[in-house]
Amino acid sequence: MKKENRFLMETKFKEIIGVIGAGTMGAGIAQVAAQSGHRVVLSDTNPQQLQFAQAQIEKSLGRLVEKGKITTEKSNEIVNNLNYTTQLSEHSEASLVIEAIVENLAIKHQVFQQLEQAVSPKCILASNTSSLSIASIGACLADPSRFLGIHFFNPATLMPLVEVIPGVATAVQHIEQIEQLITAWNKSVVVCKDTPGFIVNRVARPFYGEALRIYEEGMADFATIDWAMTHIGGFRMGPFTLMDFIGNDINYTVTETVFAAFYFDPRFKPSFTQKRHMEAGFLGKKTNRGFYNYADPSNIQAPTEDYELGKQIFERILVLLINEAADAVFMQVASAQAIDLAMTKGVNYPKGLLAWADELGSDWVLERLEMLFAEYGEDRYRPNPLLRKMARNQSKFIL
Ligand code: NAI
Repeated sequence: MKKENRFLMETKFKEIIGVIGAGTMGAGIAQVAAQSGHRVVLSDTNPQQLQFAQAQIEKSLGRLVEKGKITTEKSNEIVNNLNYTTQLSEHSEASLVIEAIVENLAIKHQVFQQLEQAVSPKCILASNTSSLSIASIGACLADPSRFLGIHFFNPATLMPLVEVIPGVATAVQHIEQIEQLITAWNKSVVVCKDTPGFIVNRVARPFYGEALRIYEEGMADFATIDWAMTHIGGFRMGPFTLMDFIGNDINYTVTETVFAAFYFDPRFKPSFTQKRHMEAGFLGKKTNRGFYNYADPSNIQAPTEDYELGKQIFERILVLLINEAADAVFMQVASAQAIDLAMTKGVNYPKGLLAWADELGSDWVLERLEMLFAEYGEDRYRPNPLLRKMARNQSKFIL
């Protein structure tokens, strides 16, 4: 018996999934659900966007057929499973509706209030928000117990991680139902607390922030920091290449939002260097210029391949990442296992940060953080109490 069918039987989940917003994320989520055998209704107020999403999905399915990943029959079945509409009322038969519209609380409230009138009382409602709190979106509903966050990563068809975020009002049985459903869609699911950045966008901040700080101090240039993280650290992309890929506007905004949401905790302080690049329109790959100038690749600086310097850079960024991961465990955002899974599947880290801490020894990590803290006297280097405890007891995060 296929996994998704077993889920449908066990939970009596009806097969219709609604997705609102046919942009980058909504189109991808709709495709994922349709590929898992669901009938999907994808809605958007903009009919051109719906046409564009349909063309994108069908192109993507065509590529899967070409590569032999699915048959033409399967592709036709998926195409037939997808319905496109401008009417919110067409979600009336859905068992789950995932909203992926513009990141604006007032507009999300309008949509959810209308949606709640259109769907059955049993329909689970979810948002793909990356920066708003689940509590704040759900507050507009008459029944917030059926609302939660389901956070996919871009591109949703390829990225294996999904963060499931219950709000304070979410009923426990819905969390389990959604975990099972999204797992049946072949995704790795991590459940996390409704805190800013959830897991990935919180724990990953030092990868960018500390790299920018190292550059600002004049310790190394972009290329050398990227080289240290890829060649010594084993990361797939260096921080500056990755920020150029994500877009400095998007990445800066996430940092600024997380910083503000954490009541301006200095650990998350944004960087002037990144802000100036954004202000200059050096957004990254999409504008042909970010930290690197892609219009003239011959001009891209070669790294200084100094192993000792590279090791210092890599270790400084790594211990800050581990400290952030330890803080997320300490503050009960998610389990250590979930955090490691999130960072390996959500941002392709070569190892889970907490397994990495276990391997290096929490005492080794703590010693480096204490050295940084003593040197700078800044809160961003303050070692987490859980890390101190692990070092003291010589215990491990991942048992
Ligand atoms: P997008 O701008 O590509 O698409 C948004 C879509 O929503 C547009 O097609 C727009 O026409 C539609 N829309 C706007 N108002 C609407 C309304 N009232 N009713 C129906 N449709 C409406 O946005 P994107 O990037 O897909 O983001 C959507 C959501 O997903 C946001 O909450 C964002 O924070 C979140 N997200 C985005 C990620 C990304 O990398 N782009 C990653 C993970 C989450």
